[in-house]
Amino acid sequence: MSTEVNQMFSRIADRYDKANRFISLGTDQSVRRKAVKMSGAKPGEDVLDCAAGTGDLTILFKKTVGPEGRVVGTDFNPDMLSFAPDKAKDEGLDITWQVEDAQDLSFEDDSFDIVSIAYGIRNVDDPIKALESMTRVLRPGGRLVVLEFGQPPALLKPFYMAYNRFVIPTIGGMVSGDKDAYKYLQRTSDNFPYGDEFISMMESTGRFANIEAKPAMFGVNWIYVGTTKG
Ligand SMILES: C[S@@+](CC[C@H](N)C(=O)[O-])C[C@H]1O[C@@H](n2cnc3c(N)ncnc32)[C@H](O)[C@@H]1O
Repeated sequence: MSTEVNQMFSRIADRYDKANRFISLGTDQSVRRKAVKMSGAKPGEDVLDCAAGTGDLTILFKKTVGPEGRVVGTDFNPDMLSFAPDKAKDEGLDITWQVEDAQDLSFEDDSFDIVSIAYGIRNVDDPIKALESMTRVLRPGGRLVVLEFGQPPALLKPFYMAYNRFVIPTIGGMVSGDKDAYKYLQRTSDNFPYGDEFISMMESTGRFANIEAKPAMFGVNWIYVGTTKG
C-alpha cells in the first residue's frame, strides 16, 4: 500500500466504523455475516483475517469458531488495528491482533483452516501476491474468503454510480471529515475486477481446487470462497 493510502487509513481510522454504517445504509455487517456463513466456519477452526481494519469480520469469525478456535486479526496499518482489541474485549472475545502485510505474511505454511480479507484485496499493491501469501498459510483443503465490492446489473448501475460518486464521498466526508478518502475508496471499487474476472485472478494462482462466488446486495458486494488443493 502506498504511503499516501496508508496515511489516509490512519486519518479516518477513528471514524471508519461510523462512516461504514452510514454509507452502507447499515448493511455492511449483514454482508460480513454472509461471508462467514459462506466460509462454512465451524467451532474449533483456526482463522486468520487479513486487512482486518477495525476488526468487524475478525470478531464475527471468533463468535463462530468459539473458544476452541484460534483467531488472528491482522492489518498493515496499526492505527486501523488499534481500535480492534477493545471491541473484542467488550464482547469477551480472545483474539490475537498483529500488524502484518497480507502480501508477505509471517505465519508458517499450513497454519489456518480459513484465511479472509474483507474490502482489502483492492487496496493491496499486488493482489496476486496477497492471494499467494494468504493461500500459503492455509492448510490443504482450507478456505480463502474474499469479500469485495462489485457492480450491480445494468438497470441499477446509473443509480449505483450516482450514489458511489456523489453520495458516498459526501456522507463519508461528513462523518469522517475526509471527503478525499471516500473519493479514493469508491474510485478503487469502480475499477477493481469482480465476478468472473476476479475468479480468473484467483485461478491464476493455481492454488484452488474449487472456487464459489456469490453476489450480495444486488452485486454491489461479492463473496468468493476458494478451497485450496488437498
Ligand atoms: C477498507 S479497509 C477494510 C477493513 C475491514 N476488513 C472491514 O471489513 O471493514 C481496508 C484495510 O486494508 C488494509 N490494507 C491495505 N493494504 C494492506 C496490506 N498490504 N496488508 C494488510 N492490510 C492492508 C488497510 O490498512 C485497511 O485497514
